[in-house]
Amino acid sequence: MPTTLRTQVAIVGAGPAGMLLSHLLAARGIESVIVEARSEEYVAARIRAGILEHSTVELLRSVGLADRLEREGDEHRGIYLQWPTERHHIDFVDRTGRSVWVYGQTEVQKDLIAARNAAGQQVYYQASEVVPHDVESETPYVTFTAGGVDHRLEAAVIAGCDGSFGPSRSAVPAEVTQTWERVYPYSWLGILADVAPSTDELIYAWHPDGFAMHSMRSATVSRLYLQVPNGTPIEEWSDDRIWEALATRLGHGQDGWKLNPGPITDKSVLPMRSYVQTPMRHGRLFLAGDAAHIVPPTGAKGLNLAVADVALLAPALADLVGSGDARLADAYSDRALRRVWRCEHFSWWMTTMLHTSGDPFDAQLQLSQLRWVCSSEAGATGLAENYAGLPIGF
Ligand code: FAD
Ligand code: DHB
Repeated sequence: MPTTLRTQVAIVGAGPAGMLLSHLLAARGIESVIVEARSEEYVAARIRAGILEHSTVELLRSVGLADRLEREGDEHRGIYLQWPTERHHIDFVDRTGRSVWVYGQTEVQKDLIAARNAAGQQVYYQASEVVPHDVESETPYVTFTAGGVDHRLEAAVIAGCDGSFGPSRSAVPAEVTQTWERVYPYSWLGILADVAPSTDELIYAWHPDGFAMHSMRSATVSRLYLQVPNGTPIEEWSDDRIWEALATRLGHGQDGWKLNPGPITDKSVLPMRSYVQTPMRHGRLFLAGDAAHIVPPTGAKGLNLAVADVALLAPALADLVGSGDARLADAYSDRALRRVWRCEHFSWWMTTMLHTSGDPFDAQLQLSQLRWVCSSEAGATGLAENYAGLPIGF
């Protein structure tokens, strides 16, 4: 017989969406229990996104989660866009009054774990066989095994925050859901390197050999990406080959700019996908973050979208569970999807503008688009508004 546990909100997944949701619910006096497949150490160390948009930082500040971010993060005014022979800075602050922060998702996750641990949040790590049940009823529950014990977690609602491979997405019957998907014919090879960044702000570079990007994590750690074909074996890319390709694509030597190489401490290949599943609610199961949608990483939106979802979901669930008021819960999916589709479009647009497809006609269109964005106030402002991020609830 499984042990029976009870809470108000059962959260599946302790990534940024699940952890932040539990924090926001607790601030409204709502209790939750989190069930996570991985260990706490694994979740805290996972290397992923690096850019926080304006409204993400505002939200973290408003709930007391931005102290270390403000001490150790780096506020950026904009980004560089470039193609061979030209580099342009697009200033977001001048155009929108909004900045972005370089503060890795790994750090956000560590801050969330520390805050939830300090508050005594119950998290079942290393859970297996996690399954949401009876989500169409008023009495949904999640079953799972943790520490060799079978559990049945009963709740008023279930929040599916378990990313793109978790069980929540597929707990919605196919007849009541619709999915949209785009797969891209390229991937990113990402590296972390123990070397001071060679740039003050991020560089997004179009190049005939393929896209390259220079990002960073701190004054001593750089994060860089290269467009590579899908299915590229990582062994084909020695450290020397990676630095050589980055130097070529990022324009080492042009106008005196230099790319400083250094020891590579992490190397991985990331596939790229656009995906949306609608609606983001089925009965008493609510989806948030990557469980409902995926964007290709070029617009730096994945983490920010997860945060925006739970910023809407927390008050909706608090009303539903706390007083039975279903108005925000009923509006959640439609409201969240407005922003999701804006970010899906922006991420697709940045991706297809900057990655080479091998088609010379596409290349001419991309260069024309880049020249327009960098020379037209309207073009630059459109990019700035989307990159620095729209207000929560847009
Ligand atoms: P996740 O962070 O995926 O969290 C989901 C959680 O659910 C995880 O902790 C997972 O272990 C847990 N889980 C999964 N299955 C189960 C289960 N069966 N039971 C219980 N728990 C489960 N975005 C960018 O903007 N820029 C980037 O450079 C970038 N790089 C990325 C690199 C990688 C390898 C990946 C996967 C994503 C990247 N993203 C990037 C996207 C960004 O990291 C995500 O959008 C963000 O993590 C979404 O947060 P989330 O909480 O919704 O999902
Ligand atoms: C990073 C990742 C992105 O996808 C992006 O657009 C900008 C920065 C990063 O990992 O630093």
